[in-house]
Amino acid sequence: MDMEKLVSLCKRRGFIFPSSEIYGGLNGFWDYGPLGVELKRNIKEAWWRDNVTARDDMVGLDCSIIMNPKVWEASGHVGGFSDPMVDCKATQGRYRADQMYVFTYADPRDPNRTVLLAGLGSNPEEAAEGLDRKAAKMLKIKPAEVPAPSSVTPYLDIPDDQRDRVVGPQTDEPGTLTPPRAFNLMFKTYVGALESASNIAYLRPETAQGIFANFKNVCDTTRLKIPFGIAQIGKSFRNEINPRNFTFRSREFEQMEIEFFCHPDEAATWYRYWRDARFAWYVRHGLRSDRLRLRDHDPAELAFYSTATADIEYAFPFGVSELEGIAHRGDYDLTQHQKFSGKDLSYFDDETKQRFVPHVIEPSAGADRATLAFLCEAYHEDEVGGEARTVLKFHPRLAPIKAAVLPLVKKDGMPEMAAKIYRELKTHYNVFYDEKGAIGRRYRRQDEVGTPFCLTIDGQSLQDGTVTIRDRDDCRQWRVPSANIVGVLASLMAG
Ligand code: GAP
Repeated sequence: MDMEKLVSLCKRRGFIFPSSEIYGGLNGFWDYGPLGVELKRNIKEAWWRDNVTARDDMVGLDCSIIMNPKVWEASGHVGGFSDPMVDCKATQGRYRADQMYVFTYADPRDPNRTVLLAGLGSNPEEAAEGLDRKAAKMLKIKPAEVPAPSSVTPYLDIPDDQRDRVVGPQTDEPGTLTPPRAFNLMFKTYVGALESASNIAYLRPETAQGIFANFKNVCDTTRLKIPFGIAQIGKSFRNEINPRNFTFRSREFEQMEIEFFCHPDEAATWYRYWRDARFAWYVRHGLRSDRLRLRDHDPAELAFYSTATADIEYAFPFGVSELEGIAHRGDYDLTQHQKFSGKDLSYFDDETKQRFVPHVIEPSAGADRATLAFLCEAYHEDEVGGEARTVLKFHPRLAPIKAAVLPLVKKDGMPEMAAKIYRELKTHYNVFYDEKGAIGRRYRRQDEVGTPFCLTIDGQSLQDGTVTIRDRDDCRQWRVPSANIVGVLASLMAG
């Protein structure tokens, strides 16, 4: 699947627009259009329904985005939530040093002469893009004569005394890149009228900390007994150095997070439960292909407080990347907040008469990344009756429009009957009415935005009260009575 085609469809059909586009946009910020907002809401609602309201052991929260800055000291974000950044003295560009690779090209006419070119990407393949052309220009040879790079080294592994030979991504000059420095990703602001150091606050970089900060409130106000979870969906903000790959890495995004609190002895079992349950959730909603993967972290990758972490990954057109992380966080977060707040965040078990700091399993997902993965997976190009079509094969639960109601022609009472069916369905589902243009064209327009069913009202409908239903994926058509159309659609949606 070609990413450019998807980005263009998203723009053309009103799924996703660049933010403030009439002013030239803003890098790392995106707006969801009329269809995109429905798709993303459906994803969030499916997540909330399945993980919160359908369960007995989960409650929700909706915390403020700006919190007491001490929260971020306790969580470690003030001290350590940073990426290594490199500045380019020639272009004023800034790059993530851990996403920069240095490629060594030898001059075919003089093997003792080499140029070291830096490329940006989350993996060496992505970073290599366009570098052969640049190498040809710098070595003053034809592109066809450029040899394969003799080595590829992450920028962070380049020895200090070699750095002044590296040519930055947007310049032809060597030696313009500074050594890496830590760049904190939290957006800063001031609370109140004074712009002083004592008034600094942060836009939350994750929703998780609001949950930990409210753990005691939830224990005190509900009758929940451990094990139980607290869930939150909300905006998070990170001043990413290089936002890229459409909405995949944005500076403003939405998270869907669960903190599941349990007894230390049961934490390993709950970790495995959530890791498998979250993977199964994506599969159930349509990420069925082998593009979805579950990757357990190597011990070397784990945060010092975590005994196990797994990533649910998706093979996007730009590479395999994380959709969601499931982490066994031990008692790290509650212990930290106990220390910084001075409040007792331990839990007393009435039955065992035991007091302990619960352990936490955290399934942390991104609503925008999930939306992007569902879009990528849904995108298909095929042929119907010898005609090419683009179709988004969304799971019906996620599809922005559930059904289109289409009178075959704009006369003979068909629009009136169609409008009545449309009105009835509209009180239950997001449905769409369209009477303009040839029926084939109307089907194509619905296919392109992923509407699972088209209901057509034709001459026979007026006589016997039946309508045709057309299935988006296999284009099969059959007749059903219109009298119980809400029930018919409900059973079709349930599969
Ligand atoms: N509380 C844990 C936490 O925030 P994370 O791996 O940093 O963990 C969790 O983020 C999820 O949030 C990611 O798997 C991803 O889906 C989403 N996410 C993180 N940064 C993002 C960004 N810059 N743009 C879009 N989504 C992002």
